[in-house]
Amino acid sequence: MKVEVELGTIAERGESAPALIDIEELLATRLLVQGNSGSGKSHLLRRLIEKSAPHVQQTIIDPEGDFVSLSERFGHLVIDADRGEADLQAIGERIRQSRVSCVLNLENLDAELQLRAAGVFLNALFDAEREYWYPMLVVVDEAQLFAPAAAGEISDEARKISLGAMTNLMCRGRKRGLAGVIATQRLAKLAKNVAAEASNFLMGRTFLDIDMQRAADLLGLERRQAEVFRELERGRFVALGPALSRRPLQIRVGSVETVARGSTPGLTPPPAPPTDDAREFILASAPVASARPAGPRRPANPPSSTDEVLAEVARARCSEDASVEAAPAMPDGEREAAFAQILSQIMSEPDAVFRQEAVLYQDFLVHCRIRRLGGPQLDLGGFRKRIPLARAGVDPEIIAGDEWGRVAAVADDMAEELRPVYYLLARAAMKRLACPSDMDLARVCASHSPGRGRSRLQALEQGTFIAIRKDMRGKRIVVLPDLGWETAAGDPAAPAGQFLDEAEIAPERLAV
Ligand SMILES: Nc1ncnc2c1ncn2[C@@H]1O[C@H](COP(=O)(O)OP(=O)(O)OP(=O)(O)O)[C@@H](O)[C@H]1O
Ligand SMILES: [Mg+2]
Repeated sequence: MKVEVELGTIAERGESAPALIDIEELLATRLLVQGNSGSGKSHLLRRLIEKSAPHVQQTIIDPEGDFVSLSERFGHLVIDADRGEADLQAIGERIRQSRVSCVLNLENLDAELQLRAAGVFLNALFDAEREYWYPMLVVVDEAQLFAPAAAGEISDEARKISLGAMTNLMCRGRKRGLAGVIATQRLAKLAKNVAAEASNFLMGRTFLDIDMQRAADLLGLERRQAEVFRELERGRFVALGPALSRRPLQIRVGSVETVARGSTPGLTPPPAPPTDDAREFILASAPVASARPAGPRRPANPPSSTDEVLAEVARARCSEDASVEAAPAMPDGEREAAFAQILSQIMSEPDAVFRQEAVLYQDFLVHCRIRRLGGPQLDLGGFRKRIPLARAGVDPEIIAGDEWGRVAAVADDMAEELRPVYYLLARAAMKRLACPSDMDLARVCASHSPGRGRSRLQALEQGTFIAIRKDMRGKRIVVLPDLGWETAAGDPAAPAGQFLDEAEIAPERLAV
């Protein structure tokens, strides 16, 4: 069945002739959109997404959070990318299984983490089991960020992950049902092999010669014919390709139903010459950095779409688990201790820290069944709360000790994603071990990347939850001022687990 959606009108034929794009053909032949900033690329993508939403599943990789507004009108699930890689991968897999359209919102991540998150997520879509290879449009705005032509300031590792995922999407995605729709400001900045795999083009206003020439090459035009791209108005594109038109055709993109958050600001006249009040306000000295404010900075449990997905899995598992309810009841304290024991046993298995929470939970329920733990079971919410502790190797004995209550109280006051790192540091300091390495810190965040460990450490330092110092040999010591503890010196570049063996150089506790 042929499904065509209307992108707008054909410019040279007045208002009446619709400019159509054939969605089925698009799935097989992909699309590249290019145009300078403000030429209307994101608007065009939005039009295509809105019009095709009823016909095909969609994933939008959204570096600026511009497309989250699709969720209200079209029901796209918004996935905040600021979460662990294992989590993102699991969500990517479930997106393919559930066939729900989604927006991966990357706006809260720095450039390097944006690349990693997009790469991990795209790879999860790509690696889906064959039975889930349903057709999906994968729209990537600002594609030059994710598939850059040249190495920039981003680490090689992050660039490789994201470039590899984009290459898979554009070169090998078709068989797996994935159709790349990518937009870029500068063709010259986009990796050539990624651009070359699109057979459909929409070229908007372009000023630089190098970009015009590449556009002309891709469209098979003479270079002087590419001059037309310089003259295009905003919202006008030259279309070519099997899903669009057999010859270059100028189209005018139609209107959209949802709005981008960051639309072009209109001119606003500044106020008359600054008043004395304004001068005083602007020139005042910078406030002295204040101590960490009391109280939580963000809700302890921000609503998140993963929670909902995981909760659903949990419900299914719990209903399977009715047999456990029938087992004889056990006193609360004993059952609690058994839960903690099972969890540390699961976590002690190699690479368990990288497993998805839903998979761990399934293991957990099996262990509960084997031990015939009676009484109310731990639900997924309760289980998730315990995972950071288990990942950080905080065992039931430590939790039951006198001092852990203070650690938990400080951790309550920080963002959820920082807690596992804090727990690990607290455990190391409490046991007078060396400071965990970047790899150790990454592992408790379920990540393979030492950069993730370092960035969580920096965030803790910025929040004044910890202070970092170096000893004479350049080894790292982390101070936990709220607890009056510090770790022994540890090598930040050491392999995972080494800090456990370096207990002999423990310092005295600081005075509280
Ligand atoms: N066809 C159109 N009809 C009406 N308004 C449009 C159209 N195309 C673009 N606009 C408006 O022009 C502005 C710039 O468009 P848009 O954000 O799509 O540009 P862009 O090419 O994505 O720019 P950047 O590369 O900087 O992201 C927006 O405010 C958008 O709403
Ligand atoms: Mg844009």
